[in-house]
Amino acid sequence: MANSQRKILVTSALPYANGPIHLGHMLEYIQTDIWSRYQKLRGHECYYICADDAHGTPIMLKAQQLGVKPEEMIAQVQTEHQQDFADFHIEFDNYHSTHSEENRELASDIYLKLRDGGYIKTKTISQLFDPEKSMFLPDRFVKGTCPKCKSEDQYGDNCDSCGATYSPTDLINPKSAVSGATPIMKDTEHFFFDLPAFENMLQEWTRSGSLQQEMANKLGEWFEQGLQQWDITRDAPYFGFEIPDAPGKFFYVWLDAPIGYMGSFKNLCDKRDDLNFDEFWNKDSTAEVYHFIGKDIVYFHSLFWPAMLEGAGYRKPNSVYAHGYVTVNGAKMSKSKGTFIKARTYLEHLQPEYLRYYYAAKLSSRIDDLDLNLEDFAQRVNSDLVGKLVNLASRTAGFISKRFDGKLADIEDMTLTNEFLAKQDLIAEYYESREYGKAMREIMALADNANAFVADAAPWQLVKQDDKQSEAHQVCSNALNLFRILVTYLKPVLPKLAEDVEAFLQFPLTWDNLGASLANHEIAKFKALMQRVDMKKIEAITEASKENLEVQKAPETELEKDPISEEISFDDFAKLDLRIARIAKAEHVPDANKLLKLQLDLGGETKQVFAGIKSAYAPEDLEGKLTVMVANLAPRKMRFGMSEGMVLAAGPGKKDLWILEPHDGAQPGMRVK
Ligand code: MSP
Ligand code: ZN
Repeated sequence: MANSQRKILVTSALPYANGPIHLGHMLEYIQTDIWSRYQKLRGHECYYICADDAHGTPIMLKAQQLGVKPEEMIAQVQTEHQQDFADFHIEFDNYHSTHSEENRELASDIYLKLRDGGYIKTKTISQLFDPEKSMFLPDRFVKGTCPKCKSEDQYGDNCDSCGATYSPTDLINPKSAVSGATPIMKDTEHFFFDLPAFENMLQEWTRSGSLQQEMANKLGEWFEQGLQQWDITRDAPYFGFEIPDAPGKFFYVWLDAPIGYMGSFKNLCDKRDDLNFDEFWNKDSTAEVYHFIGKDIVYFHSLFWPAMLEGAGYRKPNSVYAHGYVTVNGAKMSKSKGTFIKARTYLEHLQPEYLRYYYAAKLSSRIDDLDLNLEDFAQRVNSDLVGKLVNLASRTAGFISKRFDGKLADIEDMTLTNEFLAKQDLIAEYYESREYGKAMREIMALADNANAFVADAAPWQLVKQDDKQSEAHQVCSNALNLFRILVTYLKPVLPKLAEDVEAFLQFPLTWDNLGASLANHEIAKFKALMQRVDMKKIEAITEASKENLEVQKAPETELEKDPISEEISFDDFAKLDLRIARIAKAEHVPDANKLLKLQLDLGGETKQVFAGIKSAYAPEDLEGKLTVMVANLAPRKMRFGMSEGMVLAAGPGKKDLWILEPHDGAQPGMRVK
């Protein structure tokens, strides 16, 4: 094949190390993995690089909440991420972390080059500061009343209720989401990256023709609005890299995150003798570099990142490819609907290749959102993969083993084979241009033709007739050869199926082998390749994905996790409204493992509370008892209904858990002081 070898480096965005991978993320890793596998299938030298994005305030605070060091948390999360990816057959050539020595060195190097080039400006800014926690507050960590519509409890950057955007200093009655303290304004000196200095270069880069049209348009709008200086500094405390010439100041996570692509690649180069970092990143590199990202992070990748690379004397990416957002059943993924599906939850119930295929079938090169409709998903997979693809082999393979010594015939009628092979350039072009949906449609149209041929020829009838044996042999061999071509075409999408088919056909599925003849070739006995998707499995997934509040809030876990409490102020204590309550009614909650549903009589008022005490109490033992409850806890919607307070209990957990029982004489509704 006239197909000169390319050197390609391809990346997916680096997932944050503070949460699990979900099916929204998976769209990106599947899209990139298909592309990278396709390039490798065509014999190119391609490296697929990724890492965890480990820095920033949310990660720092999450680790604090869990009471562990950030280093411990990010290591744990990275292990889980890598396992999820591996189980979805995402084949990275390297997976690293932005919290690495390679990345620290590269971030310093790039920053110092930018500084020496005159691209770093200094400015004193005034920012909200949490006086209790002694930290500056990012916009998302300030909450207050919207200055426009007066909705309470809104974030510092925009209002969920009326959509207004504003600066956190505009909030009415702002509070730190970290400590609840009222923030004060405080001056601090920050470094800014001079993005406007790169406008001409970026305009030209945009016009180079390799960007998606939608992205080029978006960039055009941003140029019109005017590029701004970019604040790349965060003050301590921060989990990140300290700025080399400014102790106590750190690089904002988005400075070192994209450098993490280079850091991970550097880490790979250090492990291998045959790979040279400079060959890929030098200004005059002829290697190709592509970043696959989601539509929410286009600004970082198409403006800041190329400008940083240019300013520091490195090459720029050939292109940045953005995809849209995954919705499930037509709506944003939602914890309460059970459509916020973690990669792990999916994997506990279904094969990864179903989702790889479904996403491929729906992907285009555009930035449109993609709906994972769970019913359509099951139907599509069952009809295409099981009904069309695998069926081709399962209807014909048995006869080859039973009647023809497991050997394929020399195919006489090459009409279909030639028709299939004639599509290879078109299918290749679709993969290359990320039009996977079109590729899948072409391939399935071929599968339809193959199935029609088998149905017409009806080998199951031919084999019953003595004089039709050779014809039956022809039909089955032909079908299996067509099947081989189809699975080769699908290999980037279905790597595990392709591997199983290689074992069954005892033949390597490569692009160069597409036109090979398998005359007289012996194949192995056919084993079932793929099961149908059962809707019950999908129901199990959404059920398991419904936010399990009872587990999160169960008192036993809280007691275990936090044996020594932090000191609180008297005011904090005074806020608690503890009341004597009579348990008027106690019942089991169907499907709940830990909860009982209680009706608590407060002497006139009744509150419903879900309490995680099922392991220790039977409902009938509780009814009539007096206990103590927190009566002014904000009501929370739990999976089984509203919970309007909390019952106090003590003990290590399970059977050893005791609610507080006041002496007789206490009356429902009395305040505990
Ligand atoms: N850490 C940054 C990326 C830094 S890259 C130098 C980040 N992380 S993320 O975990 O929030 O997202 C990782 C990728 O997953 C992003 O490209 C993001 O767009 C993508 N997706 C996250 N949720 C998604 C959907 N619901 N649907 C499709 N892609 C989604 O951003
Ligand atoms: Zn508002």
